[in-house]
Formats: sequence, structure tokens, C-alpha cells
Amino acid sequence: MPRSNAAAKRPPCEFDLNENLWVEMIRSMEGLYADLATAQTEMERRAEQLQASHNFVEGVIRNMVNALVVVDPEGHVTLANESCRRLLGLSEAEIVGRPLESFFAPECVSAVHPGSVLWRKLLSGGAVRDVETQLTGANGLSVPVSLNASLLGAAGGEIEGVVLVATDLRETKRLLENARREATELERAYRELKSLQARLIQSEKMSSLGRMAASVAHEINNPLGGILVYSHLLLEEAPDDSPGAGMLRKIVRETTRCKEIVRGLLGFARQQQGEHHALDLVQVVAATVDGLGVQPLFRGIERRVELPCYALPVEGEEGPLQQALTNILVNAAEALAGKGRIDVRAWKDVEAGTAVVSVADDGPGIPPEGVDQIFEPFFTTKEIGHGTGLGLAVTYGIVRQHAGSIEVRSRPGEGATFTLSLPLRRAERSGR
Ligand SMILES: Nc1ncnc2c1ncn2[C@@H]1O[C@H](COP(=O)(O)OP(=O)(O)OP(=O)(O)O)[C@@H](O)[C@H]1O
Ligand SMILES: [Mg+2]
Repeated sequence: MPRSNAAAKRPPCEFDLNENLWVEMIRSMEGLYADLATAQTEMERRAEQLQASHNFVEGVIRNMVNALVVVDPEGHVTLANESCRRLLGLSEAEIVGRPLESFFAPECVSAVHPGSVLWRKLLSGGAVRDVETQLTGANGLSVPVSLNASLLGAAGGEIEGVVLVATDLRETKRLLENARREATELERAYRELKSLQARLIQSEKMSSLGRMAASVAHEINNPLGGILVYSHLLLEEAPDDSPGAGMLRKIVRETTRCKEIVRGLLGFARQQQGEHHALDLVQVVAATVDGLGVQPLFRGIERRVELPCYALPVEGEEGPLQQALTNILVNAAEALAGKGRIDVRAWKDVEAGTAVVSVADDGPGIPPEGVDQIFEPFFTTKEIGHGTGLGLAVTYGIVRQHAGSIEVRSRPGEGATFTLSLPLRRAERSGR
């Protein structure tokens, strides 16, 4: 290899030097280009990755059911997702850039104001959870929401903003309201059922008492009649001033009292119905009130009578009906003891198809345990010898015999109101 030997011996010329340098440069350029190409490919790959993750995040934000808002450290909105826009009924341009406070109902603004408890909690804890508040949207629309917020970019560094997620509570509230309404309705139905049950038990109790009272009264009535007849016969024969005559008079007096009680019991039981006629209840009430007004028991008591100018046609017996009202009025007067007021009213309850009479006094009222027992025979608060406790029992019997009802409302210290209802005559009920 003579040439190469010769060349090897020759000192390197300038051209050779340059040629090598060029080769070297080209090589390093090629390396650089290759690196650049790799970097370019890597960058493109990263950019694609970034775009993909950006698209992913955007998709997540867009498809979020809850409203998402991002605010900058000054509290201005920088991002609001589709759900947020829908929730407020506003466009992106109408939301972004505005202060966060402007989307809260006036009464809730103070809660989200920078420096508010919420913000302080957010700054100290980094997040707040499930705060119920009210947002304001387009046309003054008010939306109840549950708010969650967390700081963006904190953890030792600068706070970049706050991310807020609001959950629309309208549907939840509507369901809750429905549930509450249904619960109230259920409770009302339950109370009505309970009161119906109590009325049924009471009515059953009263009819059992009535049956018992009737059988006892019938059994006692005959022997009492016998005692009275024989006592009278003996009294006729006994000299007036003899000690026996005095005793016999006592027997007659006490037996007569027993007869009265038996009569009361029979009145309560009222098994035999008298003949019923067409009556105007207004006239029955007026006659009863007029008849009683003159009695000393009613002296000093103010009476107000409010009767309708139309008739209240019912079927019944005038005498017993007057008796029923008299017992109520006498009780009221006794409770008032010469001082107070009695209001008597009568009206037509078209819906129930009844004629109604109420007697109200402003006396001492009746204790709750008394209200439950008041129509039972022998319930009395009067001293022994002053009342038999049969007055209202008789009233009850008369009202029931007229297919009516009677109830009392009273509270201690607030007077008592007795309300008596009788069915209107059929022609009147059907509007003829
Ligand atoms: N308007 C009223 N205000 C307060 N208590 C009343 C009223 N009406 C009735 N009462 C109470 O009801 C009880 C029963 O009344 P009811 O007429 O049956 O018997 P009485 O009045 O005690 O006795 P009687 O009527 O046989 O003379 C009374 O003792 C009284 O305690
Ligand atoms: Mg009485």
C-alpha cells in the first residue's frame, strides 16, 4: 500500500484537516438532528398525552352533574361548567369574571364574603363540606344548593383560587316536602282514626251503661212503687202527730227521691221511643230559654241568644228536647253561680245536614277527666245531696233517641261549650 504509506508520512495538509472537521461536524449535526427528531417525537407524544388528559378533564367537567365553579384569589369566577350555567340559567359570559358573591341570594351573601366564617374555615382547613345555601340565577331565580369548596394550589404555596362544587337541592327539597306533607297527612288520618275509635268505645260504653241502667231501673221501679203505695196507705191511717207518721213521711220522701233517680236512669236509657213530630228546633230553643230566664238561678247572668231567622225543621218530641236543653242551661248557670255569661246559638250545618245548638258559658270549665265522663250517669262534682249526676246522662239519652249527637269542649278556667246536633228533616236536607 505505497499510496497510503506515502500519505501517512506526509504531514496533514489544511484540506485534510478541514475534511475531517467537516466529517466530524456532519456527524455531530446528524446526531443533533437525530436527537432533535427524538425530542420532537417525544414532545409530540407528550403534547398528545397532554391534549388527551386535557380533553379528559374537560369531558369530566362538562359531564359533571354538579355545578363546578373556579374562582381566583380575588373571588372572581374564572371557570363555570355546563351544569353551573344550567343551574343559574346564565351564559358563560354572564358568569365568568363576575364576583362569586353576586351569585348568592342576598341573605346568604354574608356567608360567602371573603372574611366570612366560611372563608376562614376554607383557609384554615383547606376545604368546607356540605354547606347549605341559596344561589341566585337569571330573573331572580333562587336555587337551594349544598356547597363544597376547596383551595386550589395551596399546601404551603400560593393560593391560586377556590374550586366550588354545588349540588342542586331542589329535587331533594321537593321530595322532602312531599314526604313531610304525606307524614302530616298520615298523622292527621291517624289522629282522626284514634278519635273515631275513642268515640266508638265511648258510644259502646254508653250503650252498655244504658242497658244496665234500664234493667236496674226497671227492677227497682216496681218495688219502689209498692213501698210508696203502702207508705201512703200507712200514712193515711197514722195520726198526724204520731212518731210513726213522721217516720212514714221520711220514707215517702226518700222513696220519692229514689223514684226520681230511677226516672233519671230510665231517661238516660230511653228505650221506649215516644211519638216524633215535625218540629222547629229554633222554637224549641227559644221556648226553653224564655222559660228558664225568669228563674232565680239565672239572676245576674248575662244571656245572649243568637237564633236564625229561618226554621230548623227536625223530627222529635218537644218536651224531652226542652228537657235536654234545660239540663245543659241549668248546669251552665250553676257553674257560673250568679256571675258570667251564657251564649246560646243555633244554626244549620248544610254539609252535615244537621240543626245545631250550642250553649257556651264563661265559667270555671271542666277538667279533662270530667270531659270524658260527663255524660255518664252519676258523674257529678256537686256535694252529696246537691246533684245526682243524671242531668247530662238524661240529655245524652234524649239526644241519642233523636238520632243526634252531643259533645262538649272545655278547659279549666275557660268555660264550657256544649254542642248538640240533630238531623234535619229529610225534605230540608235535600233542599226542598
Ligand atoms: N257548664 C258547665 N261548667 C262546668 N262544669 C259542668 C258544666 N256542665 C256540667 N258540668 C259538670 O258536669 C257534672 C255532671 O253534670 P250533670 O248535669 O250530669 O249532673 P249534676 O249537674 O252534677 O247533677 P244533676 O244534674 O243531676 O242535678 C256536673 O256536676 C259538673 O261538674
Ligand atoms: Mg245538672
